[in-house]
Amino acid sequence: MTLTLTPTKADRFSFGLWTIGWQAKDQFGDPTRGPLDAVEAVHRLDELGAYGITFHDDDLIPFGAAAADRDKQLTRFRHALDETGIVVPMVTTNLFTHPVFKDGGFTSNDRSIRRYAIRKVLRNIELAAELGAETFVLWGGREGSEYDTAKDVQAALDRYREAMNLLTEFITDRGYGIRLALEPKPNEPRGDILLPTVGHALAFISSLDRSELVGVNPEVGHEQMAGLNFVHGVSQALWHGKLFHIDLNGQRSIKFDQDLVFGHGDLFNAFGLVDLLEFGGPGGGPAYTGPRHFDYKPSRTEDYDGVWDSVRANMRTYLLLKERATAFRSDPEVLQALAHAKVGELSQPTLNDGEGYAELLVDRQAFEDFDVDAAGEKGYGFVRLNQLALEHLTGAR
Ligand code: GCO
Ligand code: MN
Ligand code: MN
Repeated sequence: MTLTLTPTKADRFSFGLWTIGWQAKDQFGDPTRGPLDAVEAVHRLDELGAYGITFHDDDLIPFGAAAADRDKQLTRFRHALDETGIVVPMVTTNLFTHPVFKDGGFTSNDRSIRRYAIRKVLRNIELAAELGAETFVLWGGREGSEYDTAKDVQAALDRYREAMNLLTEFITDRGYGIRLALEPKPNEPRGDILLPTVGHALAFISSLDRSELVGVNPEVGHEQMAGLNFVHGVSQALWHGKLFHIDLNGQRSIKFDQDLVFGHGDLFNAFGLVDLLEFGGPGGGPAYTGPRHFDYKPSRTEDYDGVWDSVRANMRTYLLLKERATAFRSDPEVLQALAHAKVGELSQPTLNDGEGYAELLVDRQAFEDFDVDAAGEKGYGFVRLNQLALEHLTGAR
């Protein structure tokens, strides 16, 4: 395998327009950067080696824009896409900025707001289909509460499901080749957000009408904000066939959503993630072939040079980790340590072919004659294996 650290369109790197276009206004301070035009964003991403751009409706077309202005902006944007070959693999809807959504969209206590939210999403799904997007992400940042007295969570889940069922019916009737991806987050902006983790979202999805059209868009920092292991969450999403899209970024421990550059948070977990996505498939190949999408925020300290540096950093870090994971996987000492740790043995079914509990019950070797003490004494060598990973990660091997 030839590995290069220069990103190309074949790497399928994509960026949200709201990420590079974030003007760095936060709760305590004014913007530190001016606005970024969507057309310039497309050209810059193309120059830097990305293949895709994603957006919320309101990132591209200001909320409430007149029809003529909407058309004009879409024409400019499409022209930039045609000029560069940049694609739109994913589109998403903003149901969180306008005050009307202060208690959520699909699960607002106010029924008229719920109806408005669904209409806003339907309109944007039409646009997503026109632009050839394959995935439509739904991040329910305002779907939640601060006070247990103020939200009937079971009713909210009924309404969430009602909205999702309507969307998949719409997609099916229109014949759109789009799948929906729910993005979990534990909190921020709401005190508690519905569907807070990958696991909650997967359970909810299994209750939907056309559940095959709905998966997840997990974000590194969102699971880590809850103290969860992102590699575990992504693994389970893959196991359910539900990893429809992914948001890559960096987070340092349980605190506010930092949206750092990929790898600038928990680097070890980022290594495990790239190893999983690229080499974690059943045959040792890619476990995920969709866009490698970055949802981060260029730090508030950066000017536009720093923004473009951070775009490069995300992609380079991913490629570096891919290169390091390749080296790790092909090191004979690692293969020996993996065998000693019995990592591969876990793929072997616990029962023999055709064996059931009756056969297991009469297998004396499994129980009566099993030397539990000897089995309990034997070490797995996980620490040595992990140190080998660290040596590869740091370039020492
Ligand atoms: C966040 C979220 C969002 C979503 C985006 C796509 O914490 O702000 O990650 O950036 O990914 O709204 O729906
Ligand atoms: Mn986030
Ligand atoms: Mn995200």
